[in-house]
Amino acid sequence: MKKTILFAAVLAMASTAMAQTPVYLDNAKPIEERVKDALSRMTLREKINMIHAQSKFSSPGVPRLGIPEVWTTDGPHGIRTEVLWDEWDQAGWTNDSITAFPALTCLAATWDPEMSALYGKSIGEEARFRNKTVLLGPGVNIYRTPLNGRNFEYMGEDPYLSSQMVVPYVKGVQANGVATCVKHYALNNNELNRNNTNPILDERTLREIYLPAFKAAVQEGGTWSIMCSYNLYGGKWLSENDYLLNQVLKKEWGFDGVVISDWGAVHNTEGTIKGGLDLEYGSWTNGLSGGPKNVYDSYFMAQPYMDLIQQGKIGTDELNDKCSRILRMIFRTGMNPNRPFGSINSEAHISAARTIGQNGIVLLKNDAPAKKQPKLLPIDLNKTKKILVVGENAIKMMTVGGGSSSLKAQHEVLLLDGIKARVGNAAEVVYERGYLGDAGGEYNGVVTGQNLKDDRTPEKMIADAVEAAKTADIVLFIGGLNKADHQDAEGADREHLALPYNQDAVINALAAVTKKLAVVIVSGNAVEMPWVKNVPAIVQDWYLGSEAGNSLADVLMGDVNPSGHLPFTYYATLDQCGAHAEGEYPGTVSPTVKGQFFGHEVPVYDMKYNEGLFVGYRYIDKNNLKPTFPFGHGLSYTTFSYGKATVDQKEITANGKVTVTIPVTNTGAREGKEVVQFYVQDVQSSLVRPMKELKGFKKVSIKPGETVNVSVTLDKSALSYYDDTKKAWVAEPGTFNVLVGASSQDIKSTVAFELK
Ligand code: BGC
Repeated sequence: MKKTILFAAVLAMASTAMAQTPVYLDNAKPIEERVKDALSRMTLREKINMIHAQSKFSSPGVPRLGIPEVWTTDGPHGIRTEVLWDEWDQAGWTNDSITAFPALTCLAATWDPEMSALYGKSIGEEARFRNKTVLLGPGVNIYRTPLNGRNFEYMGEDPYLSSQMVVPYVKGVQANGVATCVKHYALNNNELNRNNTNPILDERTLREIYLPAFKAAVQEGGTWSIMCSYNLYGGKWLSENDYLLNQVLKKEWGFDGVVISDWGAVHNTEGTIKGGLDLEYGSWTNGLSGGPKNVYDSYFMAQPYMDLIQQGKIGTDELNDKCSRILRMIFRTGMNPNRPFGSINSEAHISAARTIGQNGIVLLKNDAPAKKQPKLLPIDLNKTKKILVVGENAIKMMTVGGGSSSLKAQHEVLLLDGIKARVGNAAEVVYERGYLGDAGGEYNGVVTGQNLKDDRTPEKMIADAVEAAKTADIVLFIGGLNKADHQDAEGADREHLALPYNQDAVINALAAVTKKLAVVIVSGNAVEMPWVKNVPAIVQDWYLGSEAGNSLADVLMGDVNPSGHLPFTYYATLDQCGAHAEGEYPGTVSPTVKGQFFGHEVPVYDMKYNEGLFVGYRYIDKNNLKPTFPFGHGLSYTTFSYGKATVDQKEITANGKVTVTIPVTNTGAREGKEVVQFYVQDVQSSLVRPMKELKGFKKVSIKPGETVNVSVTLDKSALSYYDDTKKAWVAEPGTFNVLVGASSQDIKSTVAFELK
């Protein structure tokens, strides 16, 4: 009897406790119910607090309700070091060094969505381990000009390639309960005047070229947040751009996540409230000195917003929507009881960094140095006694610098060290600097500790390199750009397409004394190559992060067969690029629109995208130009031959699908991966269309002598253009060609079908 009473009492207590569990804390309840419940419990002050930063990289949750803070971090190549509360400078922690993954241009150059999934999973685990809510990345702004200082953080010039590559990254990160913040939405295609550029382009170009990767990240990747960019569109800052934020992103695409401002991208209160921004970060980012005192309360979305509500000038609908979105993100991340714990600098991550690097390196050229000799690469250590490495990028750390993507890597294998380690005692590896570039090695208090000073004159440096080259069996020139201002770095653009620091002179001098010269370009951008014909081998090496030297050595020595392909056109000259030949860059001062920056009036630069749709290879095709290397180009240590492309049906209807297949044979002596590219051509169209557009690709590994049938399936989305009068995607009936090849200028077979 007693037992029964006790049991009943316990049951009653338990059910009262259960009844008392607030809905927002009940993980079994759908997120939308929890969001609603949490919102209903919040005071006006708590809501206002939630929508703006409290420190450089964090914003409040609701402490009274146990709802955690939001902690953001850069992104996108590794988890940024911890910084001081109100400063950019690193906080000096000793447990925040991480794995640096290859830059996103390298990831795009793998043309392999599996590499992107591996990247997302690995960096997501590191972000989770470091207890971050939001990873500020990846970036998918289109490569409109090779001068953009931030191209290395993006995925190239093609909307289809970048869409395919961004989705697995997003999913991989978010599987860790960490939100991605896909950036910089939208049209932040130059760093010069990035705060006050107003791109002017037609709706069709916007939809077909500049938005698809963002749309894919939202609709296919399901990103939980997105970062609005600094620039304007249609004369309105992106942080208050009703059209791009409310109409397109939220209504049309159904985005239910959080729009976070780029750091300092917000300019006023009312416009921002209505314009669709949800979370304000980084206002007065210049060390918080440029703004008022008690700066976080003075954020545009802080006390000034509160005042408007209390004065009855504005309602709370927008505020509730912003908070609901932030709560939703918190339930998906910090309050997700199922999220894993993450890990950092694990063997798996280091190996992922190395593998992605190996798969992204592009062999641009590989000839024999002389008749009857084998191709210069890979280096045959059985026949090599002395390797000369020339160039600053062989010894320079590249994980530090370049802006917000700068990292504190637990280790970085320098290119020279990777080569030396791989060569071991098999040959002598000697080094010559060749030129002096950037001796700097510090970013926000993270120091490389490298001393890169050299007092020799440029002439002496070249003479020393040339002297050493005379006795070397092979010379590797390792140069390119770096992370200094006006190179591959945030906040400024490059000033020209040419290689900096006298490197052309060094390469020419080396080419004059040896035929066995391979040039390795470390960069996130195309560079001019006036010496291209005088050098038998050229390798595009990106910023490869922690394992940079190992990935490069793996490819140079032939342990790994290169398989990267260019995600952008390697222009021979700037005027091969539509943005420079026909469009405006950097733009002209707008007669009508004025800007505000840190409280000062600044000019706004109208920048006309007159080249329209003709970005990258689309412009090359239209004008029949010969770039140094075309979009999609990349060689292997083996060779492939292509058969005839076929379609499974000659006619399809509007909702039908067509599968295109081509046999590809490995005709060389070793296994290798080929990137088979499918470009669609609309034979007759009422609107002008690019000559062809990438609409499918597959990376396949093929054994020597083996033939693989490579297929892609195309549907209406691959055939459509955006009709801005109808405001809709249209696939016009008629003949379509599918051009299948190994690059945008190496088409092997074409097959046609009809859309009825
Ligand atoms: C950059 C963003 C970055 C943010 C925070 C801004 O200057 O444009 O990409 O995420 O700073 O560091």
